[in-house]
Amino acid sequence: MVNESLLDILLQNPDEFISGEEISRRLEISRTAVWKQVNKLRNAGYEFEAVSHKGYRMIKKPDQLDTATLIHHLNTKVMGSRIKIMKSTVSTQNEARALAETGASEGTLVVAEEQTGGKGRIGRKWFSPFGKGIWMSLILRPQQPLQYTPQLTLLTGVAVCRAIRKLTRLDVGIKWPNDLLLNDRKVCGILLESAAEDEVVRYCIAGIGISANLDCEDFPDDLQSIATSLKIESGVAVDRTVLIATIMEELELLYELYCLKGFQPIASLWEASSVTLHHQVAVNTLQGRLEGIARGLDPSGALLIETSNGEIVPVISGDVNRINL
Ligand code: BTN
Repeated sequence: MVNESLLDILLQNPDEFISGEEISRRLEISRTAVWKQVNKLRNAGYEFEAVSHKGYRMIKKPDQLDTATLIHHLNTKVMGSRIKIMKSTVSTQNEARALAETGASEGTLVVAEEQTGGKGRIGRKWFSPFGKGIWMSLILRPQQPLQYTPQLTLLTGVAVCRAIRKLTRLDVGIKWPNDLLLNDRKVCGILLESAAEDEVVRYCIAGIGISANLDCEDFPDDLQSIATSLKIESGVAVDRTVLIATIMEELELLYELYCLKGFQPIASLWEASSVTLHHQVAVNTLQGRLEGIARGLDPSGALLIETSNGEIVPVISGDVNRINL
């Protein structure tokens, strides 16, 4: 494990040299110990320019997730207050659930470089190759009845959407309930799983999967025409650590607003980013296919569809697709 404090110092002024003497003074360790720690970071994939009388300057961070760097970028109180980063796991949802069951607090975050059994909605698989995406699950403990949890799916979608826009300027839109799209292709999916007792939430696990830095050829054949990545759309790789930290910030902001003012302000933000509303859509629900115009959200977060006979039908789950008339 790399030394957090040295990393912190080096990340604070990424473009400037910092002398071995200053590092040694700030960390209260000998110059030899500084040199050893710099070498430790080198072995972990960091690259430095070392100039005599000037010191060290970080010139490259490894493209891998580590707790110290993530903590350095985090500017939150609750979200990400505890972090578990894994090289590989079946699903971060399972890991987060196990932590939640043993009492892990709200804001605990599990991130993996790779998932071998990533889960999507409705029993689907979620493609999660090593080092290319953001595969993470966050524990939430809202004190509310179970029936309101769909609102948290929408809240999470808005938070991720805002973070992606902030960092990439890509015009990402939300397809109800939880898909983030770029140029009609899916770039992110959200899976919210809950545990309840007597219809009151014990915890929710907000699972977020973002195809961040995949290239076209990384996607398997069946996803080629329907999925995309931030890198494909923007032309540059995104710093995954910074994106995770920005998502945590947005989530903290919106979750605080939600706990204080309820769902309405979140619904308004969701509606402003929706690519579903005001369009003719077809919805495949467990009860069958429904067609109509997506009119808005009801107070629980259900999508309201106006059918051709003017009836307004709330849809709580299903796949929504726009129909071009
Ligand atoms: C969907 O659109 O179907 C939801 C996809 C959710 C994927 C994320 S990746 C992190 C977390 N772990 C999982 O196994 N699934 C979610």
